[in-house]
Amino acid sequence: MKKLIFATTNEGKVAEVKSILKDLDCDIVSLKDIDLDVDIVEDGNTFEENAIIKAKTIMELTNEIVLADDSGLEVDYLNQSPGIYSARFLGEDTSYTVKNQYIIDKLADAKGEERSARFICAVAMACPGEETITTRGTIEGFIGYEEKGENGFGYDPIFYLPEYNCTTAELSTKKKNEISHRARALKAMKETIISKLTK
Ligand code: IMP
Repeated sequence: MKKLIFATTNEGKVAEVKSILKDLDCDIVSLKDIDLDVDIVEDGNTFEENAIIKAKTIMELTNEIVLADDSGLEVDYLNQSPGIYSARFLGEDTSYTVKNQYIIDKLADAKGEERSARFICAVAMACPGEETITTRGTIEGFIGYEEKGENGFGYDPIFYLPEYNCTTAELSTKKKNEISHRARALKAMKETIISKLTK
């Protein structure tokens, strides 16, 4: 069975990717699985650039097909911040309770449509000797007035989806994996992955 490296050490992400790509005939492995410990500087200016940096770095080290992603939250009222800085927003070690309350407070005067936001995910696929390809998935929503829900991670408790009348932290893992920005970006990449694996 062909190997597909997903360039992350985050086991939660790998589990999500495995579930989204479960019908592919390949073995999806993380950097932990292949014992690769590299510090990648994500200094791109867009989600796509950062995903490409991660995928290409690992592809060059392993000479294997590598997938990588970069994701984050854009809040329109905050000029699309935190965006590519979502993980580092207010400091890498600051809890999401603090980050989420900060965003809620900043939006104290924002009403209705002014609270629009989106999760974005760019996926990059790097293959030895070939051009790196990217896809993007987004999910539109609104910033809530308080944290709600225990599922998911990060900004999920404040990301409200009107069509489900709940936050992404209140969705089941199965449902979130069906509709998430990461699921959409990976599904958009699926045919390309299949064609590379069967080459
Ligand atoms: P990275 O893609 O691992 O570099 O980090 C993206 C950051 O964006 C995470 O640490 C979260 O803060 C945020 N983020 C990305 N996707 C989600 C999501 O599905 N729910 C909540 N927060 C997310």
